[in-house]
Parts: sequence; structure tokens; C-alpha cells
Amino acid sequence: MTAATNEWATAAHAGAYLDRGPEWPPHRFEGEAVLLALLASGGTGPVRPVRRVLDLGTGDGRLLAAVLAAHPEVDSAVAVDASPTMVHAARQRFAGGAVAVQVVEHNLELPLPAHRLGRFDTVISSFAIHHCPDGRKRELYAEAAAILEPGGWFCNLEHVASSTPAIHAAFFHAIDVDPADEDPSNKLAPVAAQLGWLEDAGFVDVDCYWKWREEALLAGARPGGP
Ligand SMILES: C[S@@+](CC[C@H](N)C(=O)[O-])C[C@H]1O[C@@H](n2cnc3c(N)ncnc32)[C@H](O)[C@@H]1O
Repeated sequence: MTAATNEWATAAHAGAYLDRGPEWPPHRFEGEAVLLALLASGGTGPVRPVRRVLDLGTGDGRLLAAVLAAHPEVDSAVAVDASPTMVHAARQRFAGGAVAVQVVEHNLELPLPAHRLGRFDTVISSFAIHHCPDGRKRELYAEAAAILEPGGWFCNLEHVASSTPAIHAAFFHAIDVDPADEDPSNKLAPVAAQLGWLEDAGFVDVDCYWKWREEALLAGARPGGP
């Protein structure tokens, strides 16, 4: 990840996000609550324990921490991010915790190092994958499917594209940001296209499980399992 292609490579950009606190962006807790309820309910299948979790673009690990708090049965987790600032923050958050969390510095624009990461029954992500180009998003969805055990869920709480420029501008006004100040690293894709990419990757029961303006929870399950 270079500063030329992705602002998150800089400590200033990552630090400014962390300075906004855990409630940013607005309404994220609503999407997180739906994500947590989906995992707790087993989604569309039987309730199943969450044992091993992967978080893509973890930041300081806030979503992973919420999953760990909700699922004391988790025995290990991996958190991936490319920003040294975020990797440091996530390592600090999880140091000495009850669950072994491996924090891996990795650029999501490159293939996931599957052999190094191992396998998972749950893959999560929040507000991160939209920094990858669309072609890479599609590949990443396929890699998430390949790394998941049968029956496991992939939940991507994401910043998605609006269908018109006016709706896009209105989203930024609604979160009290000047549209001119939009993160230049954003590469937003529409919900419908992304649901198709998830299905192409082999996920089933793919849907948009929650949405508020440009924030959406896109999820699907790996077929099979108990
Ligand atoms: C908006 S923050 C979200 C962080 C965290 N998931 C959360 O919900 O608070 C976006 C995160 O994606 C990470 N990121 C952006 N581009 C990335 C890339 N190409 N590879 C890995 N991480 C990336 C950033 O470093 C940052 O931690």
C-alpha cells in the first residue's frame, strides 16, 4: 500500500480516523448490532459456535473486539491491516487479552496469505474493503470464501456507492462531512454489484442485511456445514 494509491498508508490519515472515536462513522453501531445478531443466530442455519475469526482491514480492532465480547467461545483470531499505525493500535488493544489475536500487516490489494492465516469459521470486515479497486474486491470475496469452513459466514459492514451523485452528496451532508472532503481512497461499489460478486464467489444466502444510506452489511455463508 503506497500513499499515492491509498491515504491509509500515512500515519496522519490513520490517526485522524482513530481520533474520531469508536462511534465513527455515525450509525455504525446499528450495522454492527445486525452483524452480531446474524452471527449469534447462526444466520440462516443452525446456531453454531464461533471459534476462529478473521477481520480484514481491522483498524484498531474495534469490530473484532465486539465479536470477541459477544462470543466467549472464540479461541483464536487474526486481524489484518496494511497501516503500521493500525497494526500497532490493534496489537495494543489485544495484548494480554483472553483470546490469542494475531495481528498481521498485509496489504489487501495483494492475495491473502492463506497458508499463513489458516482457516476460519467467521470472516468479518468493516469499512475497509472499499479502499480496494473493484477487481480486487471480487478476488478478495473469493479468497474469503476459500478460507472459510463450510457453513461459515462472511460479514462485510461496508461503505457502498449511492445510485446518484445527489444521494452520494446527501450521505456526506447527513454525516456532517463536506463532500469535497471525502476520503480520496474511497472506491465505492454499488450493493447490487457486490451481492453478485459474493454469489460468484460461491456464497449462499447472500443479501444486504442492513443499510443506512451508504453504510451496508453485505453477508453470505459458505455452503455446507452441520
Ligand atoms: C475506515 S478504517 C476501518 C477500520 C476498522 N475496520 C473499523 O471499522 O473501525 C479502514 C481500514 O482499512 C485499512 N486499509 C485500507 N486499505 C487497505 C489495504 N489495501 N490493505 C489493508 N488494509 C487497508 C486501513 O488501514 C484502515 O484500518
